[in-house]
Amino acid sequence: MSWQRSVFVVAAVFAVVGVTACSSSSDGGAAPTTGTGREAATVAKGLEAVGKRKCPTCHGDNMAGATKPLADQPDVRVELYPPNLTPDVATGLGDPTNPDPAKRGYTDDLLARAIREGYDNNDQTLCPQMKHFADMTDFEVYSIVKYLRSLPPVNQKILRSVCPPLKTKEEQQAAP
Ligand code: HEC
Repeated sequence: MSWQRSVFVVAAVFAVVGVTACSSSSDGGAAPTTGTGREAATVAKGLEAVGKRKCPTCHGDNMAGATKPLADQPDVRVELYPPNLTPDVATGLGDPTNPDPAKRGYTDDLLARAIREGYDNNDQTLCPQMKHFADMTDFEVYSIVKYLRSLPPVNQKILRSVCPPLKTKEEQQAAP
């Protein structure tokens, strides 16, 4: 190989490396085609996650809550009524797009917080028997949110749960 040819080969190698480095850095800034975050959430994945996490065993197959308390609580004072998670504005999670603020209920972010951290939309702690699904990714929790929003609204009023000292029987009786 002549020296001219060697210089050419070396230059060509640098050119290829340069182009590769350039294209990989521009890929990093491009919009993902398949994501694993909130932007990729789907109703179908939400349905799958709800099944895997067994939410319907407490909230009902139609997710409209339980009108009878959950059986077999170790503490006899505890009465758990898993709430209605359908979009019904009077008895369920509400509709965040409703023009009437009283009918909006949970926002998507507050719903994700309830599921992962156990606070309701008034910043009150939920009974701890509603497990905190703290390990859920944004993808999973916002897929569940999408799925719940897609359900047909069911008008079914659910009693307030009792789990002293957090939520008392008196509060249940005084609740509207
Ligand atoms: C062991 C039964 C049980 C399971 C399983 C369960 N929940 Fe609950 N959930 C409850 C109870 C009971 C409450 C009410 C707690 C309270 O009122 O303090 C509740 C409350 C909630 C709330 C708050 C609703 C409101 O009106 O304030 C949301 C949201 C929720 N659950 C979503 C889920 C999702 C999503 C799953 C599955 C990933 C799930 N839950 C699994 C029992 C359960």
